[in-house]
Amino acid sequence: MPDSVKGSFDIPLSVPEIAGNEWDYVKECLDTGWVSSAGGYVTRFEEALRTYVGADHGVAMVNGTCALQIALLVAGVEPGDEVVVPALTFIAPVNAVRYVGAFPVFMDCDQTSLCLDVEKLTEFLTTRTRRAGNGDLLNRDTGRRIRAVVPVHVFGHPAEMDPLVKLCRELGLKVIEDAAESLGSTYRGHQTGTLGDVGVFSFNGNKLVTTGGGGMLVTNEPSWADLAKHLSTQAKTDPFSYDHDRVGFNYRLPNVLAALGVAQMERLDEFIEIKRRNLASYREALRSIETFVLLGEAPETRSNCWFYTLQVPERSREALMDHLLKAGIQVRPIWRPMHELPMYEHEYSYRIEVVPRAVRTMFNLPCSVGLSHADIQAVCGCIQEFWEMGASR
Ligand SMILES: Cc1ncc(COP(=O)(O)O)c(C=O)c1O
Repeated sequence: MPDSVKGSFDIPLSVPEIAGNEWDYVKECLDTGWVSSAGGYVTRFEEALRTYVGADHGVAMVNGTCALQIALLVAGVEPGDEVVVPALTFIAPVNAVRYVGAFPVFMDCDQTSLCLDVEKLTEFLTTRTRRAGNGDLLNRDTGRRIRAVVPVHVFGHPAEMDPLVKLCRELGLKVIEDAAESLGSTYRGHQTGTLGDVGVFSFNGNKLVTTGGGGMLVTNEPSWADLAKHLSTQAKTDPFSYDHDRVGFNYRLPNVLAALGVAQMERLDEFIEIKRRNLASYREALRSIETFVLLGEAPETRSNCWFYTLQVPERSREALMDHLLKAGIQVRPIWRPMHELPMYEHEYSYRIEVVPRAVRTMFNLPCSVGLSHADIQAVCGCIQEFWEMGASR
């Protein structure tokens, strides 16, 4: 890590916006003693989120990663199965696949959205698979059963869900949407997280709605929601006696955190408007530098514009990031490709060509909801200064 990354920043990458009813709701939990998962804010938070996205059920958990693990379990993923995941993602969905004893199949990303490349997915699922005698879809190369696909809506921008879901339905595969970053984003008018069989959101500190740490599973399948709640509350069969019928997990979200979530949900639409407006301001301020491109919305989608991703020529990326960091502006590279990480480099991957280049040319700019106009001008001024230095060299 360069020294310039270690200190504090004048303009941080992403800080939460806590300026609504958070104090009142949390105080109520403290005043009444309802701090643990039994309190009423947990169900209020579930209700607020599930109605916002239009899902029948929501199950709140302590983070998005464990919600993904539970989503895989309720979708019927078993040890030894394979699950298709993007090679470009935060690591959580890939780890969740391993937590349930399944194996990842890494897929390339689309050039513009950075989400799972549906054409390549189709090619893989139709040319590299065969049916077993019992109807299971097997990966020809590994012989393992393919059970599910996990599209991730990268940086808040929706993946191309219609062809993906159609393909999975035809092949009998489950779709587990990782909507951790895309709360409030829509694809063809429908909220992300509700487009597949089960969806997952995250509320960690850098997410649009934060509870400090938290996650939620949403689904329209009542038996899956029941199972998710059961598994995430130690698989208790009786509220009084200590009876359990499975190996469950202690994953339920505490009330005091859910109280934060309820307050944050009240401002979600406002947050999204601000995020979108700020991205437009960045775009306007960087318009004159043609070789630097901000990632945008794909047709028929409306993004929550969670993160602001800048693509620059590969030769400029490191130096530009360093220039910004030294000026007190926090930027971050995008993720290391999953199939290159030591614990995953031996797993199956299919024709990954776009991801490595995306990683070498992109990084993220400050994107807090509370970013001021002056902050955006300062970031863009610094980028302009770098560009002029390079242009005059
Ligand atoms: C794409 C993606 N999936 C899953 C997660 C996991 O969420 P959590 O940090 O709440 O476990 C995150 C964020 O942290 C994420 O960005």
